[in-house]
Amino acid sequence: MSGLRSWIAQAPPGARVPSNRALMARYGASPVTVQKAMRTLGALGLVESRPGVGTFVRAVRTARALDYGWQTAALGAPRARIPTLSTALHSSSPELIGLHSGYPDRTLLPERLVRTALARAARGTSAMTRSDAEGLPELRAWFATELAEATPVGVTPPTARDVAIVPGSQSGLSSIFRALVGSGRPVLMESPTYWGAILAAAQAGVRTVPVPSGPDGPDPADLARAFEETGARLLYAQPNYANPTGAQWSRERAGQVLDAVRAHGAFLVEDDWAHDFGIDTTARPLAAHDDAGHVVYLRSLTKSVSPSVRVAAVIARGPARDRILADRGAESMYVSDLLQAAALDVVTQRGWHTHLRTLGPQLRTRRDLLIDSLAEHVPDAQLDHVPRGGLHLWARLPDGTDLDRLTRDCAADGVLIGPGSEWFPAEPAGTYIRLNYTGPAPERFPEGARVIGRALAGRP
Ligand SMILES: Cc1ncc(COP(=O)(O)O)c(C=O)c1O
Repeated sequence: MSGLRSWIAQAPPGARVPSNRALMARYGASPVTVQKAMRTLGALGLVESRPGVGTFVRAVRTARALDYGWQTAALGAPRARIPTLSTALHSSSPELIGLHSGYPDRTLLPERLVRTALARAARGTSAMTRSDAEGLPELRAWFATELAEATPVGVTPPTARDVAIVPGSQSGLSSIFRALVGSGRPVLMESPTYWGAILAAAQAGVRTVPVPSGPDGPDPADLARAFEETGARLLYAQPNYANPTGAQWSRERAGQVLDAVRAHGAFLVEDDWAHDFGIDTTARPLAAHDDAGHVVYLRSLTKSVSPSVRVAAVIARGPARDRILADRGAESMYVSDLLQAAALDVVTQRGWHTHLRTLGPQLRTRRDLLIDSLAEHVPDAQLDHVPRGGLHLWARLPDGTDLDRLTRDCAADGVLIGPGSEWFPAEPAGTYIRLNYTGPAPERFPEGARVIGRALAGRP
């Protein structure tokens, strides 16, 4: 394919491309490979085939430098600075050591269950149907039951009616900020916090107010002050295995935060993104302790089932639920029935529970290996605490470290890391990096840490 592309690049426009038979002989390729290459070149607009005549190099193929300047004139300057997509979304390749991603490697996913479920869904009616805007009733019931099981006596558990299925919790977050906050109004966020929440807030035009948060979660007094000073009516937080810090709030802290939220007539958006990734503890959803509609609960399956099964749930009660649903209708109308059916199939198999039971020990081994590797090769990196669940380590580096340069130097040496600045809604409170211990090839963690250590010390 690359040989053929070079030939086309120097061939005059309109030149006849050698026949498939000649190409097979020239490149020692099979008929299938040659046909595939020709199809790809056609799709790229480099060749055109004239049936019965032959295939020719397309006449117009020189790339002009295009000028899109008129677009910025038409669009004007953005209202607020919108962060770019995070390093966490950069793709990797097998030769690199990827410590940057926000999703686990496929070896940690229930691949067999997912493939069987997708095949079954493709054969079933869901391949050709459309669910209600709220989602498949059985899947909504599954999400409601899961949260209901954590609900203590005396609190009214959620029902399927309170659940809306969304295509990933990112999409749910955007809807929540638009529907429950609105442009120009304030939202409190832990700092540091998930870059995608910062991005969704910026896109929705809401004003982000950072509240410092460490291994124990936010200080309730700081929170109360922020509610009072800003008039905010919504806090976005991750009480379990927060991204990026890995913090899990104690029961006492969770109760204090919920009290502060209630006292200010506010909402708590609880992002339970790492529900299935407990290591030393299990996730304790705060939403299970609220039946007055203060907590809006987000629970995703994209990280623990498959990133391709983009299915998550928003559990909300009262008018908040109706407003979120109205926003969903405007944004995407409904979620693919096929994906919903496959997600439901996976989480209702006995193998799903077996899978989750084996996951914790695997995460522990990986987490501890990365911690040991850092201790040996990056002694200047400090961990505030060992995360009891989740996918990441959050390591502090010496003040004055040039983070952009470190990230670039590591990438040049084949190691991808997450620069911590992306997780702060305002100025970073220190120099941090986020490292995913659930990426591919854990046996290469020591090598990855060695590269980070060398780059930090400024050694080639
Ligand atoms: C804290 C948190 N919330 C939400 C998401 C979005 O996940 P998804 O849209 O795949 O459900 C992520 C993904 O990295 C995350 O880390």
